[in-house]
Amino acid sequence: MSARPRILLTRRWTSEVEHYLSQRFDVTLNEGDVPLDAARLRAAMTGFDALCPTVTDRIDRNVLSAPDRRVRLIGNFGVGFNHIDVEAAREFGISVSNTPDVLTDTTADLAVALMLMISRRAGEGERELRAGKWTGWRPTHMMGQSLAGKTLGLIGFGRIAQSTARKARLGLGMRIAYNGRRRASAAVEAEHHATFIDSVDELVATCDVISLHCPGGAATHHLISAERLRRMKPSAILINTARGPVVDEAALVQALTERRIWGAGLDVFEEEPKVHPGLLALDNVVLLPHLGSATQETRTDMGMRVAQNLEAFFAGRPLRDPVA
Ligand code: DGY
Repeated sequence: MSARPRILLTRRWTSEVEHYLSQRFDVTLNEGDVPLDAARLRAAMTGFDALCPTVTDRIDRNVLSAPDRRVRLIGNFGVGFNHIDVEAAREFGISVSNTPDVLTDTTADLAVALMLMISRRAGEGERELRAGKWTGWRPTHMMGQSLAGKTLGLIGFGRIAQSTARKARLGLGMRIAYNGRRRASAAVEAEHHATFIDSVDELVATCDVISLHCPGGAATHHLISAERLRRMKPSAILINTARGPVVDEAALVQALTERRIWGAGLDVFEEEPKVHPGLLALDNVVLLPHLGSATQETRTDMGMRVAQNLEAFFAGRPLRDPVA
């Protein structure tokens, strides 16, 4: 019997990390990279010392309550952990860690990319060209809107939001406003030249680009509701690189179809990997398959961050990134 802790990675990770982990732990890989269903996740709770899931795995009370549980650590690959019932984990004495910091700039890059793609109609232009419909340059062809001098309204003002603010202000010349659970310190506000807007209603009504950076979960479910979409300017752009359920997708389809807002750049969806069919039919949206942290470098850094948590945990040291 192996003395090394038994670890299950629920999806394929970069080869560097899989190699690193297999040198140190008794690692089981999900060779086919097919998401595990609830029964297999529940069974894994009894066969391993640590489970390393991702956003595609629902680690709920049913999974966590498996009888004869062996798992003592859920080492999540990702910063968001709304797919894990942290309260139940705590109750069952199971530790949980995540991977903050290492994906901050990569995810912020994608938020900025989506802002530019929507404001400059890049997706629409590319589709026109590929369809052979481009008839040539002309002064009034596919005009977008400039972002310089416009106000970026961030909902949530954590690491990724602040990185987005930095890139948008210094790179694009945007003004910065934000709303968050707590007001940031004066020093952080000064660093980003950021104005705190006390109410989400006011932020969505007054900002030009609204970018979501809040956690998922019950507290933020449909935070961008039909009513808040109605408050937005006709020129407003909505960016979501946070979690799909933060936006009422059906209401968004309606607002975009009726051209009540300019457009939306979405990297996350309410029922991934399903996408509302109404979105697929629209030109004023850019739709990406949850690529926020998807660079070679970042995905390896995320895996190594899980490795650091596993190493700390099994050496009896405090977790580097505890969430429970
Ligand atoms: C995260 O880290 O939460 C991303 O959304 C998926 O990895």
